[in-house]
Amino acid sequence: MDLFEYQARDLFAKHGVPVLAGIVATTPSEARAAAEQLGSKLFVVKAQVKTGGRGKAGGVKLARSPEEVEDAASQILGMDIKGHTVHRIMIAEGADIAEEYYFSVLLDRSERRYLALCSVEGGMEIEQLAVERPEALARIAIDPGRGIDEEMARHIVSEAGFPEADADAVADVILGLWDVYVKEDATLVEVNPLVKTADGTILALDGKVSIDDNASFRHPAHADLEDKTAENPLEAKAKEKGLNYVKLEGGQVGIIGNGAGLVMSTLDVVAYAGEQYGVGPANFLDIGGGASAEVMANGLDVILGDPEVRSVFVNVFGGITACDEVANGIVQALAILGDAATKPIVVRLDGNNVDEGRRILTEAAHPLVTIMDTMDGAAAKAAEIAA
Ligand SMILES: Nc1ncnc2c1ncn2[C@@H]1O[C@H](COP(=O)(O)OP(=O)(O)OP(=O)(O)O)[C@@H](O)[C@H]1O
Ligand SMILES: [Mg+2]
Repeated sequence: MDLFEYQARDLFAKHGVPVLAGIVATTPSEARAAAEQLGSKLFVVKAQVKTGGRGKAGGVKLARSPEEVEDAASQILGMDIKGHTVHRIMIAEGADIAEEYYFSVLLDRSERRYLALCSVEGGMEIEQLAVERPEALARIAIDPGRGIDEEMARHIVSEAGFPEADADAVADVILGLWDVYVKEDATLVEVNPLVKTADGTILALDGKVSIDDNASFRHPAHADLEDKTAENPLEAKAKEKGLNYVKLEGGQVGIIGNGAGLVMSTLDVVAYAGEQYGVGPANFLDIGGGASAEVMANGLDVILGDPEVRSVFVNVFGGITACDEVANGIVQALAILGDAATKPIVVRLDGNNVDEGRRILTEAAHPLVTIMDTMDGAAAKAAEIAA
C-alpha cells in the first residue's frame, strides 16, 4: 500500500524524524482555517495524490497568508495530476530552504537485500539524476541482518558527500527513517527533498512510504491508512470476504481457480482462447486449497457482481481437496446463490477423485453449468460464451 504524503509525514513524526506541522483540508475554507491554526509566515499548499511530480504539475504552491492559502487551495483542489484527481491538500508550514537533498531506502528484490540511495542534490527528479549523473547518487547496499546502524548511517552520509558539519544531523535523520522502514514494515521510504534550512536544521519536507501488506497482521493501525474511496468496489468486497481477488481491466471471462499458479495459467489460456473474439480474463481469483461451498459461493458472488463478466470459468485441480468435495462445493454454492447466479459457468475439474466430481456435477445438472474435460477446452468454451 502506498501512502499519501501526509500519512508518511505522520509516520515520520512518530519515529522522531523532523517534519513541519501540516493539516489536511478538503475545501478552500478548511485550508484557510488550517493556515490560521498553523499561524506561520509562510505556507505551502500541497496536493495529496499518490503520484510523483506534484510540484511540476502545479500541485505545490507557496502562500504568505491564510487568504493566499485559500486561493491556492481552490486552484489545486480538483486538479488532475497524472490521472489522479486532487481531493485533499495538506497545508504545511513553509521552510526557509538552504539546501535540498535526497534519501531513500527500499527493498532490492533482485539482490535480496535493502538499498539506500542518497544524494546532496535532491529536489529535482531523482530518476533523471540517476541517469544523467549517476556518480552524484550514492547507492549503498544494506545487509538485512545488520540494517542501518549508526556506523552505516555515517557511511551513507559520507558516500553521498555531505559536509562534515552536517554529517551528525543527517545521520540522525537517516536512523529515524530506517526506524520507519523497519518498525512499520515498509518496502520504500523516500524523502525528496530532505532539506537544510537557513538556520541549519535538517527536515523531511516530502515523504513517500510504501507499506508491505503482507505484514498488516502486525499493524492493526495500518488499516486506517487505507484509502477507501479509491478502492475498486469488487476488490473491497472480496477483501472483506478474505478472497485473493484482483480485478483486471477489459475482460469478460470471470476466473476462479485453486492455487495462484493454476490461476495465473488460467488467465493465460483464457487470454489466448479469447484473442479471436476480443475477450479476455476479467479477474484473478485464487480460492486456495480446501475450497468449501462457502468460499466457492463468496467467489462466485464477487465475480457475478462484476457487470463486465459474461461467463465464468471455474478451473480446479483436485489435490488434497478432492474433486468430489469441490463439485459438492459448486453445487451448494449455486444453491446458496439461487437467483443471484445469472451467468453461464464452465467447470473444468481434474486430479484427485475427478470421476466422482464430474458425476456429482452431471447429476446436479444445473442449467448454467457446462462441464469440460480439459483446461484448454474449458477456456475456449468460456471465451466463446463470453463472445
Ligand atoms: N514545507 C515546505 N516549505 C517550503 N518549500 C517546500 C515545502 N514543501 C515543499 N517545498 C518545495 O516544493 C518542492 C516540491 O515539493 P515536494 O517535493 O513535496 O513535491 P514534488 O517533489 O513535486 O512531488 P513528488 O515528490 O510527489 O514528485 C520542494 O522541492 C521544495 O522546494
Ligand atoms: Mg518530492
